[in-house]
Amino acid sequence: MASLKEYLKNKLSENKLNLVPKSFDQIGSIALFNEFPKELKKEEKIIADALLRINKSIKTVAIKKEKFSGKFRLQKIRIIAGKKTKETTHKENNIQLKLDIEKVYFTPRLSTERLRISSLVKPNETVLVMFSGVSVFPIVIAKNSKPKEIYAVEINPIAHKYSLENINLNKISIIKAFKGDVKKILPKINKKFDRIIMPLPKDAETFLDLALKHLNKKGIIHFYDFSKEEEFPKSSINKIKEHCKKFKIINTVKCGQYAPRVYRVCIDFQPT
Ligand SMILES: C[S@@+](CC[C@H](N)C(=O)[O-])C[C@H]1O[C@@H](n2cnc3c(N)ncnc32)[C@H](O)[C@@H]1O
Repeated sequence: MASLKEYLKNKLSENKLNLVPKSFDQIGSIALFNEFPKELKKEEKIIADALLRINKSIKTVAIKKEKFSGKFRLQKIRIIAGKKTKETTHKENNIQLKLDIEKVYFTPRLSTERLRISSLVKPNETVLVMFSGVSVFPIVIAKNSKPKEIYAVEINPIAHKYSLENINLNKISIIKAFKGDVKKILPKINKKFDRIIMPLPKDAETFLDLALKHLNKKGIIHFYDFSKEEEFPKSSINKIKEHCKKFKIINTVKCGQYAPRVYRVCIDFQPT
């Protein structure tokens, strides 16, 4: 972000200029920063206004107050400049997504991972996305590959509401979205799938028995987990071993950094 620093050159001291954050997430028209260093507390507004001036696609500048937490994996956001809204429409991988960045989970950082998964989906597959949020995985898959149908299950009612809106917005007819706990919904659906995606790295492990029960023969599971760098991929594979006696690992992928030396990872595996 050299141009932001350039723009701020006459407004901040050399020391403070060096502390200006180098990166942020852009979700639709919202720029989302991690908490600024405390030395920049008084300059927050100057920096945010500068960003609004130099990047016309940004209409709101906000700061994350906490990491994602709780059952719905939400984060607290504080707006520091621009339009006072937390709702926006984000574009990635040929799709559009409407969402409120505080009321639902969403990260733009997994867009490459979502495209990787969609590239693996074969024509006519039946796919289940557990923990589907605003339906970003289901919609990316529906738009970029040719599955027969996709089931999506999400417990956060607001995320589910956006999910229905996003399915319409992207004119998709093959996604069936369900609101509720996957442990209660799946037994009611009583169906098996060729591919199951489990994007809940915090405790996907506790849903593995359920996923295995609903997987077709030769089906594939994408199991997300957090892993320390030195334990990758062993610790995640060990979690799978506790629930599945025989399986073939198809791929192990680091798909994002969660904390220093801790990664968000995905293990693609096929029970045998
Ligand atoms: C890490 S977020 C992932 C959301 C989405 N798949 C994405 O990639 O943006 C996990 C999601 O799982 C949902 N969730 C947590 N427990 C659940 C459960 N038992 N059944 C269904 N959804 C659940 C949360 O509300 C949250 O939206």
